[in-house]
Amino acid sequence: MQKNILKSGIELSEIGLGCMSLGTAYDHAESIIERAIEHGITYFDTADIYDKGVNEEIVGKALKKYQNRDDIVVGTKVGNHLQQDGSTFWDPSKKHIKSSVKKSLHRLGLDELQLYQLHGGTIDDPLDETISAFEELKQEGIVQAYGISSIRPNVIRYYLEHSDIETLMSQFNLIDNRPEALVDEIHAHNVKILARGPVFKGLLTANSNQALDNKFADGIFDYSYQELGETIASVKEVENNLTALTFNYLQSQNALGSIIVGASSVEQLDENIENYKAAKAIGVDQLKAARERVKDLNYTQHLQ
Ligand SMILES: NC(=O)c1ccc[n+]([C@@H]2O[C@H](COP(=O)([O-])OP(=O)(O)OC[C@H]3O[C@@H](n4cnc5c(N)ncnc54)[C@H](OP(=O)(O)O)[C@@H]3O)[C@@H](O)[C@H]2O)c1
Repeated sequence: MQKNILKSGIELSEIGLGCMSLGTAYDHAESIIERAIEHGITYFDTADIYDKGVNEEIVGKALKKYQNRDDIVVGTKVGNHLQQDGSTFWDPSKKHIKSSVKKSLHRLGLDELQLYQLHGGTIDDPLDETISAFEELKQEGIVQAYGISSIRPNVIRYYLEHSDIETLMSQFNLIDNRPEALVDEIHAHNVKILARGPVFKGLLTANSNQALDNKFADGIFDYSYQELGETIASVKEVENNLTALTFNYLQSQNALGSIIVGASSVEQLDENIENYKAAKAIGVDQLKAARERVKDLNYTQHLQ
């Protein structure tokens, strides 16, 4: 498996496991994590909020026996402040970040965290306070690198220019191609993209029709349900393997760090890895032809 290297030297497998869809049944989740490792996946994406901390516990427990391996990398996220009643509010304060990291480390069973990411946020956040929290965690040796998860151009640009983020997580796939407009800027800052939603909840898999009906009945972005169906059919005329195509598309982006794909079963993961291998056979002209059949999407909000 190809590895992509962050500024700090941390190496991420080009396919990362999005742990959000593992579920809360430990044995089932562990079987997916085990299979990911067999496939050469060494990057695992979680967040403090996934299943209210249970996801971090599961990831930590399943990876415990690999703690002597120095190639396994775990990234988690912070910013959604969970309250006793189960509700959350957005809290990018230094106090919250610095206390939450300890709880995440405890749940993950780790002494230090390789990658800590802000889980969203707006331009109205106390941005410099948040950045200074992550910087302090780095200086204290608690965190090796930090990043943000955002789809807001104004926030992304602020962090690119005023912080030392190493990763930017955004939804990015052949249909949601909005991040394309930012790739050169991200690359210029030597920041790597963690592409989440790469198979767009199943829309870009062999299970496309079912995902379209079940998850995109109201359309998405500039696409009506019907347009989305027609677009998928048209792209399939170029290349029937939609997952290989979207992976190849993401690999063609300069700043790619890792394709963070979710899987709720071992079979889905196996299929995704097969298609990652198949992505190599897709040619530049084929990708260009497929790209021309989807809309050019642009971010329309949070620009300034
Ligand atoms: N703001 C953030 O930072 C943020 C937000 C969202 C996600 N994430 C991270 O990114 C990861 C991936 O995001 P995502 O889950 O939205 O996107 P995704 O990887 O595009 O979609 C994963 C889902 O697609 C379906 N799927 C995957 N492989 C399949 C296959 N081979 N055949 C059929 N269906 C398949 C499954 O749905 P079913 O389970 O329904 O079958 C699976 O749960 C998450 O796990 C999480 O770690 C981060």
